[in-house]
Amino acid sequence: MPAPPASFPALAALLALLLASASGTDVHDIGEAQFTYEGPQGPSHWGDLSPKFAACARGQHQSPVNIVRNATVANKNLKALTRDYRPANATLVNNGFNIGVVYEEEVGMLLVDGKNYSFKQMHWHSPSEHHIDGIQFPAELHLVHKASDGNFAVVAILYRLGDPDPLISKIKGQLDQLAKEACGADEEAHIPLGIFNPKQIKRNTRKYYRYVGSLTTPPCTENVTWNVLGKVRSISKEQVASLKAPLAADDKTNFRPLQPLNGRQVQLYDELGNQ
Ligand SMILES: *[C@@H]1O[C@H](CO)[C@@H](O)[C@H](O)[C@H]1NC(C)=O
Ligand SMILES: *[C@@H]1O[C@H](CO)[C@@H](O)[C@H](O)[C@H]1NC(C)=O
Ligand SMILES: *[C@@H]1O[C@H](CO)[C@@H](O)[C@H](O)[C@H]1NC(C)=O
Ligand SMILES: *[C@@H]1O[C@H](CO)[C@@H](O)[C@H](O)[C@H]1NC(C)=O
Repeated sequence: MPAPPASFPALAALLALLLASASGTDVHDIGEAQFTYEGPQGPSHWGDLSPKFAACARGQHQSPVNIVRNATVANKNLKALTRDYRPANATLVNNGFNIGVVYEEEVGMLLVDGKNYSFKQMHWHSPSEHHIDGIQFPAELHLVHKASDGNFAVVAILYRLGDPDPLISKIKGQLDQLAKEACGADEEAHIPLGIFNPKQIKRNTRKYYRYVGSLTTPPCTENVTWNVLGKVRSISKEQVASLKAPLAADDKTNFRPLQPLNGRQVQLYDELGNQ
């Protein structure tokens, strides 16, 4: 049977898509819905953009939060965060709303309270999403891990302005290359990093804040185990600029506003206190 001629609605949809990508609209597709950090598709509207994003509006255990240090509770049952990462092929990705490093193969595990989570990707937000004692930092790195049952554990690292971060220095060339590639609607820009050694993410995990929250981008999935490291790292002004440069105009300030704790407790792991 010959293929039926393309219907008018299909052609109209195709045309709309072509026009949208030609104009480089600053919106991003997650399935059928799009979101940004400003304007009518900004964070206060995420929950209305798609039924799949309902948790963004109605979830009671959302992220990020303000961590009030004197309100945290030391929990001696928390364990050190144990990681076992190995070098793996990776890609630097600009999905329009953040810059990240995505692994194409098994890169290793993070052991959180006796449960294995596989390291999937890491990405930056600027300024930071989590606050400590009401202070917002210039940037935050999220190391995203997923268990075989689909649950997430994220390690968050805050940055203060100062010396350059050695890890970001290593990918400077690729970040600059990313800034030269336009990223239009529902497009991603990819730059191969080759074999990337996540052990370069030197992190001091002697102290961390633990709470249960959500992904900070749609669909805002809950029951994410957050581990915000107490050790703040340093990043240079130029590096913050290079993490923003490739992003769409509506997404250069890519933090979600603070969410209420709604009775949740933030726990503190402190190696010195736990011995
Ligand atoms: C905790 O810190 C906040 C602000 O940093 C302060 O207003 C409050 O009085 C402190 N509470 C206690 C119990 O120390
Ligand atoms: C790394 O990934 C790139 C792009 O997917 C691929 O071309 C290359 O062969 C991979 N390298 C290794 C060592 O797996
Ligand atoms: C976690 O993964 C590591 C490395 O794959 C493995 O050696 C270990 O046995 C796993 N632990 C648990 C509790 O599943
Ligand atoms: C929430 O996450 C924890 C830790 O990954 C997991 O053990 C638990 O089954 C999850 N609960 C739900 C309701 O998914």
